[in-house]
Amino acid sequence: MSNTAHDDDWVKRPADASDGTTCTAADYERMYAESVDDADGFWAEQAARLDWIEKPTRIAGWSYDPVDIKWFEDGKLNICHNAVDRHVDAGNGDRVALIFEPDSPDGEGRTITYAELKAEVVRMANTLKKLGVKKGDRVTIYMPMIPEGAFAMLACARIGAIHSVIFGGFSPDAIAGRVEDCRSDWIVTADQGLRGSKVVPLKANVDAALEKASAKAVLVVRHTGGDVAMTEGRDHWYQELSADVGEECPCEPMNAEDPLFILYTSGSTGSPKGVLHTTGGYSVWTETTFRYVFDYRPGEIYWCTADIGWVTGHSYIVYGPLQNGATSLMFEGVPNYPDHDRFWAVCEKHKVNIFYTAPTAIRALMREGEGHVAKHDLSSLRLLGSVGEPINPEAWRWYHDHVGGGRTPVVDTWWQTETGGIMITTLPGAHDMKPGSAGRPFFGICPQLVDNDGHVLDGATEGNLCITRSWPGQARTVYGDHERFIQTYFSTYPGKYFTGDGCRRDADGYYWITGRVDDVINVSGHRMGTAEVESALVLHPKVSEAAVVGYPHDIKGQGIYCYVTLNAGEESSDDFAGELRQWVRKEIGPIATPDHLHFTPGLPKTRSGKIMRRILRKIAENEFGSLGDTSTLADPTIVDSLIEGRQNR
Ligand code: WTA
Repeated sequence: MSNTAHDDDWVKRPADASDGTTCTAADYERMYAESVDDADGFWAEQAARLDWIEKPTRIAGWSYDPVDIKWFEDGKLNICHNAVDRHVDAGNGDRVALIFEPDSPDGEGRTITYAELKAEVVRMANTLKKLGVKKGDRVTIYMPMIPEGAFAMLACARIGAIHSVIFGGFSPDAIAGRVEDCRSDWIVTADQGLRGSKVVPLKANVDAALEKASAKAVLVVRHTGGDVAMTEGRDHWYQELSADVGEECPCEPMNAEDPLFILYTSGSTGSPKGVLHTTGGYSVWTETTFRYVFDYRPGEIYWCTADIGWVTGHSYIVYGPLQNGATSLMFEGVPNYPDHDRFWAVCEKHKVNIFYTAPTAIRALMREGEGHVAKHDLSSLRLLGSVGEPINPEAWRWYHDHVGGGRTPVVDTWWQTETGGIMITTLPGAHDMKPGSAGRPFFGICPQLVDNDGHVLDGATEGNLCITRSWPGQARTVYGDHERFIQTYFSTYPGKYFTGDGCRRDADGYYWITGRVDDVINVSGHRMGTAEVESALVLHPKVSEAAVVGYPHDIKGQGIYCYVTLNAGEESSDDFAGELRQWVRKEIGPIATPDHLHFTPGLPKTRSGKIMRRILRKIAENEFGSLGDTSTLADPTIVDSLIEGRQNR
């Protein structure tokens, strides 16, 4: 099986892809042209699918110089109304909104209709109100993948509070930093989470975080029933506190530009940034992208395997599907528990029609052989999706042929926390696919490739991926630090949004994402700043200096390779390497566990003291034959000793 990408390796879209509602090739061309030539008209029409308390008359109101992004700015709406109440009001309260599939196949699942979802969200919203949460307040959500996580997000949106969801795999220190950064006085969590039968001590992590940060109240959902400590006056059991709240809670009228949520994400420098999304544009963007990309048809079961702690969970487990009245499956567990066929067992059990996952999961399951797939009846699957990192053609083929039985289109969706929703993808009825290529820009998206000096590159070419015009789902700012927002995204190539990704465009106008061009790495679809791992390493009292780079990893996409210099007199050993790995896990979380620790007496630096990462990357990739010019190094001999000690052989 070839793993090289080819520009002319076409996979045809299904001939019967159109049932009359699907976007066809001709529709795409017409609508794309309209979305660019008449953005106001196009987005006013898309927005009209939602309920507005006050319909917007001003549609696109943005500038990249100065950076000021607004959409639908005189409109008023509430995304919780559009995701929940609207469907109940339309007589669809009996439709299933959420299916909960627990960690263990023997655990207790749950099916929640839109009417039940409304009652649950109202209960959560009134409980938050009882704790004093008001419009504009920040609420941290640190939850396992259980329906209460979605209830909490929707409840915040309902009352106008700004949610900040933190992935359940993050450490107490990471929680503390985020709680402090957005001054969040409330935290919603659970006693414990379950992943592959392992217990995740969520409440205990919050307790540890609150030794460093402060919060007025912690709302604890009882989930596993495990023993947890409760601090009198601060901690409250959700099930108890919510017992007597009212059954009414109106949706707060929100201006389109009122904040909806903060989501922390990694960049090339500094600590994670709180990316801010606002109400109107994000609502329209997630509703529209979900509808077209997944070509959702009423009654279908849709499953996105992401965690609600990441943007994919926000946009494509909760807000996108629910605004479309879809049935969204939430899975608490992991792909390999109790066995490597769990994903396929769940697809068969719930007759999943649309399945959306990450390449890292596909590669890991591919390694276990197709026998696990063949055991299950996957004939319900109609559409497959991929997200989070480039998918190599071999994994794409395996996914398409074995999981999709060769029938289903695969949408490879490129986007980012900052973009709010899908930006580049094929559309199932409109485009033939090329394994390894994300495809074509979504409506309203104007990608541009530029060289390192900012010159625009035309035609078939490769360069740095920028977007020249705003779209409704674009992040508006970094919470509390607009200057950082401008610096990070709009200063490298003034007047354009810079994505941080490298990209190739072929002669057919298809885009091939080549990966990050900055110091961000993508490990199993989790985005991480190498600077964050370096800060964690140098916090250890024995470490003097650290440099972290990514290297290609068969399953994870990228692995974490750490060069570490110890303080004078300290010795490295296998035990110490183990201790340092644990240290990083404790500082950031298990997702940041180093794959390779390379102890070295020094790092390659220029005479001005700048670490030459290019060299470190090459050695980590085990490609030290082509190190390029090393003559500007202060001490060129260090290179030979680094090659000698390389860990990835
Ligand atoms: C990468 C996840 C190639 C990319 C939605 C981007 C991808 C970063 C794809 C954002 C894809 C995401 N093909 N690369 N289909 N999707 N990426 O913010 O490098 O967690 O910049 O958002 O993931 O990661 P984030």
